[in-house]
Amino acid sequence: MALEAEGSSPFTHPILSLVAFMEQNHLPCHDRINLGSYYTKPAIVSLVLSLLHKNVGDIAAYALVDTSCGYGSFLATDFPCRKIGADIDKEALKVASAQVPAATLFYHNSLRHVSRRQYGLSAHDKIIIIGNPPYNDATSLVRRQLKRKAMEVDCELKTRDIGISFLRAFSKLQADYICILHPLSYLIKRANFALLKDFAQGYRLLAARVISSAEFAETSKATTFPIIAALYQRNAAGMDFAFIEGYPFITTEEKTFRLSDFDYVTGYLHKYPNQRHIRQSEAVAKFWTLRDINALRRSRTFVQKTTASTVLVTTQMLDYYCYVDVFKRHITHIPYYLGNCDIIIDNYAFLEIKDAFRFLSLQHNPQLGLEIGSGWDGDNSRKAVSSYMKNLLHEHYINGV
Ligand SMILES: C[S@@+](CC[C@H](N)C(=O)[O-])C[C@H]1O[C@@H](n2cnc3c(N)ncnc32)[C@H](O)[C@@H]1O
Repeated sequence: MALEAEGSSPFTHPILSLVAFMEQNHLPCHDRINLGSYYTKPAIVSLVLSLLHKNVGDIAAYALVDTSCGYGSFLATDFPCRKIGADIDKEALKVASAQVPAATLFYHNSLRHVSRRQYGLSAHDKIIIIGNPPYNDATSLVRRQLKRKAMEVDCELKTRDIGISFLRAFSKLQADYICILHPLSYLIKRANFALLKDFAQGYRLLAARVISSAEFAETSKATTFPIIAALYQRNAAGMDFAFIEGYPFITTEEKTFRLSDFDYVTGYLHKYPNQRHIRQSEAVAKFWTLRDINALRRSRTFVQKTTASTVLVTTQMLDYYCYVDVFKRHITHIPYYLGNCDIIIDNYAFLEIKDAFRFLSLQHNPQLGLEIGSGWDGDNSRKAVSSYMKNLLHEHYINGV
């Protein structure tokens, strides 16, 4: 995969002289997980810094600040600016100080007592935040067991995800630009977007590239998810969710997608346990809680028992749950960058062939006892669904899996 922003290779750009990649090598496994110490490869550092280089004039007028700098890779550039780094990991800072002797480094928790003063910056200094702040890798079940140690965080920055707290801290620092890596899910999931608060109200996405988490060899090996290299500019208009829905996200594979390009099953069924709204006697089937496409890769679909995670399925909505059940078996055709989206659908095209979905769902879930319209068999159902999926995904369809 080419990790290059538009134009020439960022590696060849004269302004970027990057240090050789040093894999984090001093922390035991549980500390690495707790601190989110997954360091960034030079190709990705380059990608991020090239967003800055292409979109911000006179970078020398700004102080570059990385508040979770690790070994200092984002500061080790030839940008002729004042450079400031911080980290909660003292050992990492020793390496950073050797790699970037010109940088002023601070050993502290960057989510506590957040202020410009903490970094020796005045209200008049122009600043650009750079880096790859840590985040909670919620897709890793094994790691979730390990993530116990809560970090102290200023009250107004506290959220369920440390990465979102970092974004809110950047807005508190009133950075002029913020040029960082973070999970795309912070922007494209409504619930996360709502947690961004001041950050979303005070900044606007100016340029971006979407990359795969597989580029960070150490994170979530099981399921890859989209990460965004994003440049935000301070802007009183901020961003609302409609802005994000219409934003053309470009991936490193040169694919472009907007959330608004698709329709989602969430408009046609219940995603979450609904036992308060639907009586057991009305249910013709039970389904596992629905989240995003990546969660569906791992989760069950139709289930037999009622638990706290069960969604009760009524006759009117049954076809849409069959849709999800069959969609799951085609999920390998869906690229990583749509992994945090809700399950997509072309409702009109689906309704035309819903019996094909019912047929295939019944094969896996005979207990549903579904009636199927005449003329459908395994062969033509599979062909109809396969062609539906290709049309649904167009250029995003992954072949050969
Ligand atoms: C994903 S690594 C990024 C390191 C480096 N910027 C890079 O990209 O190679 C996240 C870094 O955040 C640091 N960190 C985690 N929590 C922190 C906190 N509350 N304050 C400051 N640094 C923190 C970790 O020690 C780790 O070095």
